[in-house]
Amino acid sequence: MQFPNPVFVALDTPDLPRALALAESVKPYVGGLKVGLEFISALGPDAVARVVEIGLPVFADVKFHDIPNTVAGAAKAIAGLGVAIFNVHASGGEAMMRAAADAIAPWTPRPLLIAVTVLTSLDDSVLATVGQRPPASEQVGRLAALTKASGLDGVVCSAHELATVRAAAGRDFLTIVPGIRPAGAAKGDQRRVMTPSEARAAGANILVIGRPITAAPDPAAAARAIAEELGV
Ligand code: C5P
Repeated sequence: MQFPNPVFVALDTPDLPRALALAESVKPYVGGLKVGLEFISALGPDAVARVVEIGLPVFADVKFHDIPNTVAGAAKAIAGLGVAIFNVHASGGEAMMRAAADAIAPWTPRPLLIAVTVLTSLDDSVLATVGQRPPASEQVGRLAALTKASGLDGVVCSAHELATVRAAAGRDFLTIVPGIRPAGAAKGDQRRVMTPSEARAAGANILVIGRPITAAPDPAAAARAIAEELGV
């Protein structure tokens, strides 16, 4: 699965006018928009619908993780906002993932349903403290296989885990990759980064990029430079 322009820009702000202005300015140079928990918690579902109205595919990075019945209800609600992609935590288990998939199955077009495997903020020592079996890379492979078996479309993973995910879940499984930094950009709190073209070459289908675009002096120019680097 390839997106013509794989860049989804992360609108990580609780300020709706700023998010909408930013989205409009980068619209010609990106393939989609991502809203996450900061945006949705501050601004609510109506604001997500406003971002959908911009006309690019929207990824709602909601990371649902609850009992199957609750996640099914939340999945219907988020799909009803017109988003193209949303996600759940794979560690919620097969029944929870299947409940989410079943809840949105009647939708046309149906949003893509993605699972988070292991948060990139968790390393091997933290995994052990929450009772998960390290190393993180093996846990990513296990959860990617479970995600596929549960009928979902793909996973969020770091660019360094793409080969593990492909081995566990095959070529047609969608991979969404954050932690992207153009050469020379500040890493911020991201540790294991790749450039946009490296991540694409490694097989990422969607690249989530936040601060290298949103915190640039000229976000549209930053997005255009990334599109040019990718040749899209
Ligand atoms: O600003 P930056 O490019 O680091 O933004 C990356 C985006 O991807 C943020 O919205 C962050 O919440 C999200 N993300 C991440 N790592 C994950 C999952 C999502 O950085 N494992």
